[in-house]
Amino acid sequence: MSLVGARSIISGLRRRARRATGGWGDPVRNPDASEFEVDLWTLSDFVLDKIVPVVGVRPYPLNELLLMTAAACRLKPSVVFDWGTHIGASARIFHECDKAFKFGFEIHSIDLPPDASHVEHPGQEHGRLVRGLANVHLHRGNGVRVALDVWRRLGQPKRPLFFVDGDHAYESVRDELGEIFSTVPDASALAHDSFFQSADANYNVGPALAIDEVVRGFPGRFKVIKSGLGLPGMTLLVTV
Ligand SMILES: C[S@@+](CC[C@H](N)C(=O)[O-])C[C@H]1O[C@@H](n2cnc3c(N)ncnc32)[C@H](O)[C@@H]1O
Repeated sequence: MSLVGARSIISGLRRRARRATGGWGDPVRNPDASEFEVDLWTLSDFVLDKIVPVVGVRPYPLNELLLMTAAACRLKPSVVFDWGTHIGASARIFHECDKAFKFGFEIHSIDLPPDASHVEHPGQEHGRLVRGLANVHLHRGNGVRVALDVWRRLGQPKRPLFFVDGDHAYESVRDELGEIFSTVPDASALAHDSFFQSADANYNVGPALAIDEVVRGFPGRFKVIKSGLGLPGMTLLVTV
């Protein structure tokens, strides 16, 4: 039998098992573990079956998709705040997690106003991947400011997850993370484009430096998990 044939039989069996058990099941097998631990086989299937066909692997390669979905599954946030929305890939990833694993969280996704000028401004493409989804709320304005306003308006829900993917400048990432962690005591945050390279690579290391500074500013507060391997890179800061 060919490798492709064997793979399709295995995925058929997995699909049948999922149907028999009523869904994906919780990939967190060990919720009381002190380590950040998830079942990566389940999450790999989920990412390949449900996320990649909708979102692809740009701007988030597979290791980053695993980190994003692992964060949603392990932390089970009450609510997700996400900026910038752009076409809505990150918001859609969190939506797919919520739908598959039945967490019941909502996603508030923010991008700059329609008339703002920013090199990555999405224009007419804004939120294309999440338009019409009931648990995704689109907002316009400054990401961190709108997110914290909504968090207060919602009654300061516990364990929110913030996805920081806006400007990618050292100062903005430092200020956004600083504002999140000084305002919300049990917040966790994922920051994108955080791979560090030496100066001769000529890569924007603003987010990597900003994250290091924020971690130093809140000693002992975080478990830090990096997607590693290479560009663009993502870092998860979990309040422990
Ligand atoms: C790299 S894209 C984000 C990709 C998006 N997360 C996705 O998965 O499709 C950066 C986005 O951040 C937006 N942006 C930049 N600064 C922002 C800010 N201060 N608040 C909200 N959005 C911002 C830009 O307009 C752009 O749409």
